[in-house]
Amino acid sequence: MEIRTVGVVGAGQMGNGIAHVFALAGFDVTLNDISQDALDQSVETIRNNLDRQVGRGKLEETARDAALSRITTTATLSDLGPSDLIIEAATEREDIKHAIFAELAPHLGDQTILTSNTSSISITRLASRTDRPERFMGFHFMNPVPVMSLVELIRGIATNAETYDTLSAVVATLGKQAASAEDFPAFIVNRILMPMINEAIYTLYEGVGSVESIDTSLRLGANHPMGPLELADFIGLDTCLAIMNVLHEGLADTKYRPCPLLTKYVEAGWLGRKTERGFYDYR
Ligand code: CAA
Repeated sequence: MEIRTVGVVGAGQMGNGIAHVFALAGFDVTLNDISQDALDQSVETIRNNLDRQVGRGKLEETARDAALSRITTTATLSDLGPSDLIIEAATEREDIKHAIFAELAPHLGDQTILTSNTSSISITRLASRTDRPERFMGFHFMNPVPVMSLVELIRGIATNAETYDTLSAVVATLGKQAASAEDFPAFIVNRILMPMINEAIYTLYEGVGSVESIDTSLRLGANHPMGPLELADFIGLDTCLAIMNVLHEGLADTKYRPCPLLTKYVEAGWLGRKTERGFYDYR
């Protein structure tokens, strides 16, 4: 199946990055969120990120303008119905994701492929509540989407081969690399990355090191581009906690127990960069 039109649900950090890379690769993108303000802000972010690529000589101005012209926005979810491919990139809450797919259902074309950019929720369970589990897949981009090469492809138990092949081809068109993961809690990247971040938070909690010494240790001692606490702030501490909870509940092993300090920060509303306060102060 050929994909030309893409509907993206959620214009936050991940949604705007996804819209950015699809528009740049020549797809027509319809971006949805609940408010026009959020959509306008998202397009502004895309414009700034494209400008940055132009500024660094990585992109022609004409390509930037063409990409921007391929993005339309709508606060009405059903407008996404006719798209060939839908990518749900809303808040990492299962009830919200089910509600989005349910609301879209009566407006979808017969062949439309549904995907979720979830970082940890069961694809099989999300798919089972739709009318097309065979055309449903996990389509997991990494943050920042325009920079990171990887896309995890996660088949639910019922996903058919045509859907998998179609999405593999789309990843290649984006100039990115696919890695296939089975549908188990948090798939591959977050199964490995989040326990490391959680352990870094325990290291802080137990007083083994300061925020700075933990991050410096991993940046300079293991060549990570960002320290784990800086990365947690970048991803969002609410997202980190949600993923740890999925691992803890799904794998029933205490080694995935979220650090109490992570829980406390989330309860305080200190979610990292997006609230200007996390392990670092961005105010
Ligand atoms: N859009 C477009 N380009 C961007 C960008 C954005 N949002 N953010 C950064 N860039 C580009 C810059 O233009 C620059 O491009 P060139 O090298 O081509 O000139 C490049 O990225 C590097 O940027 P900077 O020089 O400004 O900054 P940096 O060298 O400190 O790199 C970083 C920034 C790429 C974010 C780097 O720190 C990094 O790789 N961090 C780790 C990111 C990571 O681990 N992501 C995965 C998170 S886990 C996840 O996403 C899964 C999940 O479900 C939670």
